[in-house]
Amino acid sequence: MTESFHPPSWSPDLESRYAELGERLAPLVPCLEWPLHLPWIDAIQQLKRERGAVIMAHSYQSPEIFHGVADVTGDSLALAQAAATCDAELIVLCGVHFMAETAKILAPDRTVLIPDPEAGCSLASSITADDVRALRRQHPGAPVVSYVNTTAEVKAESDACCTSANAVQVVEAMEAEKVIFLPDRFLGAHVAAQTDVELVLWDGRCEVHEQFTVQQARHARERFDALLVAHPECPPDVQAEADFVGSTSAMGRWLQQRRPDRVALITECSMADNLRSQFPDIEFIKPCNLCPHMKRITLPNIHACLRDLGHEVHVPPDVAWRARSALERMLQVGRQERV
Ligand code: 13P
Ligand code: SF4
Repeated sequence: MTESFHPPSWSPDLESRYAELGERLAPLVPCLEWPLHLPWIDAIQQLKRERGAVIMAHSYQSPEIFHGVADVTGDSLALAQAAATCDAELIVLCGVHFMAETAKILAPDRTVLIPDPEAGCSLASSITADDVRALRRQHPGAPVVSYVNTTAEVKAESDACCTSANAVQVVEAMEAEKVIFLPDRFLGAHVAAQTDVELVLWDGRCEVHEQFTVQQARHARERFDALLVAHPECPPDVQAEADFVGSTSAMGRWLQQRRPDRVALITECSMADNLRSQFPDIEFIKPCNLCPHMKRITLPNIHACLRDLGHEVHVPPDVAWRARSALERMLQVGRQERV
């Protein structure tokens, strides 16, 4: 079905049924937008029940998606773990394409849909499987650890995957003197500073985080008296300026422990919005950049994808099989950490 769908309009009844969500979203979405989002949220919730689907949303999704329709939220590690243990037949992954591929690889018997298959990632498109094979030839014997921000084909050429939340542990679990770490150069430099393992790096960059500057960071500190928290995909000089450098999940844990009055999150914009409702006492300053790929996912295209069962993610079985072993090695490290 391709004809456009118009959800029922806003009504006082709808507003009262979603009063609790409305209160949670009030500080996060402009009040003029709420009557536009609410009918879509209701229509998606209805379709989701009919289809028995689970909606998983990355922390960089807009608040109306993150709070309004998602059943599972989190960083890329949390979404991978959730996909691996998911009972639902149908998963709608609200994030970028490599995240949906990861879900499909870890849940091969499930149907995985992505609302916009064009939602890419500058890191994932910075390296190919041929590039990985060439790196292996240049560094014989060195295992390959690839960030989950890679295509299934690149994962299939890797010994293990990692996310920014577990990169150091995964590198050390290789038990090698030298490891090929790809594709993010800045995350690689951050990991290299925390381990004795020699890392061979690739020159991939996140087009969102590489734009942050030291001047912006200093401005946030000096003008707003804010503590600075940066993602390890930021340039090294920005990381050096920060009070804490950590993954999406580590940022939340750091805020929980430190409870600063004011913080500037040097990362994707929606991260601050989505944490704000968890920490209402903290003032979030936003020297933020939007990820244009994450922002391709919208309430209307989530609805269309559930309605039409469109944009199913497929991974060729031989690629999926090898990529799965690299992902499982990562999840194994995660499991050991919690024991
Ligand atoms: P996380 O692994 O922290 O979820 O980050 C994914 C990402 O795309 C960061 O830009
Ligand atoms: Fe990729 Fe950067 Fe967007 Fe994350 S924020 S999905 S690394 S482009």
